Amino acid sequence: MGRGEGVNLMPYSPALLKAQYPILSEDIAPGVPLHYLDNGATGQMPRAVLDAVVTHETRNRANVKRSVHTLAERATNAYDAAREDVAAYLNVSARDLVFTAGCTMAINLVAHSYGSLLREGDAIAVSTLEHHANMVPWQMLAARRGLRLVRLPATAEGRLDMDALPGLLDGVRLVAITHASNVTGAITPVAEVAAQARAAGAVTLVDGAQMAPHGPVDVPALGCDFYVISGHKLGAPNGIGALWGRRELLAAMPPFLGGGEMIRSVRFESSTYARPPQRFEAGTPPIGPAVGLGAACRFHAGIDHAAANRHLAALTGRLIEGLRQRCGDRLRLIGPGDLADRLPLVSFTIKGAHPHDICQILDRRGVALRGGHHCAQVLHEAYGVAGSTRASMAAFNDAGDIDACLAGIEDALRILLP
Ligand SMILES: Cc1ncc(COP(=O)(O)O)c(C=O)c1O
Repeated sequence: MGRGEGVNLMPYSPALLKAQYPILSEDIAPGVPLHYLDNGATGQMPRAVLDAVVTHETRNRANVKRSVHTLAERATNAYDAAREDVAAYLNVSARDLVFTAGCTMAINLVAHSYGSLLREGDAIAVSTLEHHANMVPWQMLAARRGLRLVRLPATAEGRLDMDALPGLLDGVRLVAITHASNVTGAITPVAEVAAQARAAGAVTLVDGAQMAPHGPVDVPALGCDFYVISGHKLGAPNGIGALWGRRELLAAMPPFLGGGEMIRSVRFESSTYARPPQRFEAGTPPIGPAVGLGAACRFHAGIDHAAANRHLAALTGRLIEGLRQRCGDRLRLIGPGDLADRLPLVSFTIKGAHPHDICQILDRRGVALRGGHHCAQVLHEAYGVAGSTRASMAAFNDAGDIDACLAGIEDALRILLP
């Protein structure tokens, strides 16, 4: 299944979609509706995911792959089916898909396991745009194994600097890049990066945390070697995510964590290990959350994301324009000012107003934004600011959410910059 192929999409309507999220029909305070614009931090959970998790925990709860009773069989089937659903969302084989605790865990797994195969003096290239989850594990690996860390710079607009790339890949064995920045919203031309990396003898790991909630991802078309996603960004429970790895790479990688489920046989002195993906899933897995992630992927696969993304691009334009009109010269966008190749998220600063104060004032209107460095200190440093305010949209957001946000910005300007 590529992007949207072979599935029956529901007609796209933000209103119909909103109705599927219980929290979005509740007032956040008496008489104050919720305008949730913090989807980049965590996606809200639709009824379909809640139902799948409740059904699993009330009817199918047992450990997987261990007992032969009916519940255990149901739990095992549900867990296996969830892996198939997540794999279908990424257009990959379930055999190559490892459940992890999230993106952070998935990247740490690769940094430890694939990283142990790198040699002293090898280089790892990491972009300025990365979330700490895709930067700190590589720093730690570099320190552990004597590797060189190469910075792939960003342009002034907050996109990966593609002109600089060819000159930086000498000696690089692994390139770690985000599919889309959680701060600037810029979408990386991953296929181009992966092709250049491969030509230079490097593998590419792609952080799909922000991209995956905006539609199924055709991972093979990207030509990357590892792709990681985060469940909670897709509206699944916390504590679940996934790593896809190229089969021959996973097969050559040693385990990351040891314990039950990941072994073939255990003797007192040593053990042999199961094939991937089990090799990388030590202990009882997060079964209920995995079922939730499977349901979240099915839910998202049923959304007409092409239509949603057109609608969200228009909302992004409305927000940027509205900010420009209200803030004038005080506004600084931390990211591109245009709508091409970007996610529907907008990070900005308003001279003289602290992001946390802005967020607090908007919260009174039920508008949920995020203020701070968004776990991307290096990127903010490149812009010369400590933090920013971010509005990040999902397919259910509508013009009312954007207008509530802009009305809140007017409040903030009045209160903070009288
Ligand atoms: C781009 C990006 N990468 C990685 C992460 C971390 O993901 P997780 O919370 O699943 O560990 C986040 C979450 O904030 C993110 O936005």
